[in-house]
Amino acid sequence: MNELYYPLNDFGPLMKGLVIGGLGIVHVFLAQFAIGGGMLACWFEWLHGSGRSSLSREFIDRYFKILVLVSFVLGAVTGVAMWFTTIQIGPRTIGLMVQEFHWIWAIEWTFFCLEVISGYCFYRCGSGLDHRTRLKLLITYSASAWFSLFWINGILAWQLTPGEWLQTGNVFDGFFNPGFLPSLIFRTITSLTIAALVAAVVVNLVPSWTRSDREEIIRHIAMLLLPMMAMPLLGVWYLSTMPSDSQEWLMGGSPAMMMFLVMAVGASTLVGCYSVLGLWKQRLFINGATATMLLALAFTATAGGEFVREGVRKPYTVRNVLYSHSMTLDDIRHLREVGCTTNDPWPLQDAADYPTDQLRLGAHVYRVQCSICHTLDGANALSHLSSTWSTDQKRLNIGQLQRTRNFMPPFAGTPEELEALVQMLEWHHEGRPEEWTSTGSPELYDKLREWIEAAPLPASQVTSEGVNQ
Ligand code: HEC
Repeated sequence: MNELYYPLNDFGPLMKGLVIGGLGIVHVFLAQFAIGGGMLACWFEWLHGSGRSSLSREFIDRYFKILVLVSFVLGAVTGVAMWFTTIQIGPRTIGLMVQEFHWIWAIEWTFFCLEVISGYCFYRCGSGLDHRTRLKLLITYSASAWFSLFWINGILAWQLTPGEWLQTGNVFDGFFNPGFLPSLIFRTITSLTIAALVAAVVVNLVPSWTRSDREEIIRHIAMLLLPMMAMPLLGVWYLSTMPSDSQEWLMGGSPAMMMFLVMAVGASTLVGCYSVLGLWKQRLFINGATATMLLALAFTATAGGEFVREGVRKPYTVRNVLYSHSMTLDDIRHLREVGCTTNDPWPLQDAADYPTDQLRLGAHVYRVQCSICHTLDGANALSHLSSTWSTDQKRLNIGQLQRTRNFMPPFAGTPEELEALVQMLEWHHEGRPEEWTSTGSPELYDKLREWIEAAPLPASQVTSEGVNQ
């Protein structure tokens, strides 16, 4: 049996998963801006060299300053913050990702270093260099930025579609998984789109330019929005690589997931239509306000898309291997015997708030098994979700969690722990009174054990070499 490390922190009204999700969205958006920004700068430098645009050079220098300030500084801060929160919230998932893919991470970091160094060189010295050197530097920058996406993308896609790796445990089977290619192309096009929309904002910030100067640059920017036309097809391809239960949630099985999908598709469609029909075909002008609004829509699309990607993985962080609360199926079997709180080294922070030991136990079970996706009163609140259930319904539905909703992991504790959790939820729902009668009898616990075991566990848990160490 493994030592299980549970999160220390309590994020109050935010479920823990949401903290990672929220940070992740900002980080992904900034990182994609950095990648697309490099490509955009290459394109404009080439336009300058081939005599197609007299203003492009000035534009790159202004654009690149913003790129470095926003994306390098905020991107780096949110990136480090991601590591800090994920190792707090899902240390075992991160552990597995590092264990399986350490060489890939190492390669990714070398590309990231190259990206930062070449980006800074261009930022500091770019304006004094000749065209060929500038182009070389920008190509180095954008190629290394894109390759850092290439490497990370494989690891992220593996979490949802680990593919052959489940049988072979081979790093490259995991890396070049079914979702790898569609998500790589999808993210590359997203990067170009974000960079182009930021450019449309920047064009409007140059005080000395006339309207026709701006129009010239906008025409060139519009070219970078054209690949968006492939997005619907890519989206369908990406969806088709997902496991069938994930697809079902998106097609209506989970209202929340479907809402995020609609948000992502709707916002992308609006950006796409305006870009392709307006900017490219009709050669419309775009002012600062419209450009900012389109950028906000692109952010909405990214947010929706990232939520969908994180959401459809439920109840796993690594599909078929590791559940969202950092347990494997073997752990769940084991914890049903010994209890999920017995060997948990972390005490309850608010133990004094509970009038009885049973309620304290219930709160502990909640923290270990539910708090990654639920809160008591805030987002996805348990007191609200279970409020209409009778006591026996709570016992049955929570004991058979994977049957209640198949995006939840199976209950991983003893009948005593189940009863304690149910009592804690009822006590909380009643407004946390100072007195509460403890429950439990051998007959009740026998019945609860029967209920827990009546719901089948997934047939076979495929484990790769590293998982159970
Ligand atoms: C992997 C994430 C995850 C974990 C872990 C999880 N849940 Fe859920 N649970 C969800 C989601 C998502 C919903 C759907 C919420 C909705 O429909 O709005 C849900 C719904 C519920 C519902 C309402 C079910 C219904 O049919 O209306 C209850 C009750 C519930 N969870 C209890 C729990 C309890 C108790 C635990 C801990 C033992 C737990 N959940 C662990 C994600 C999770």
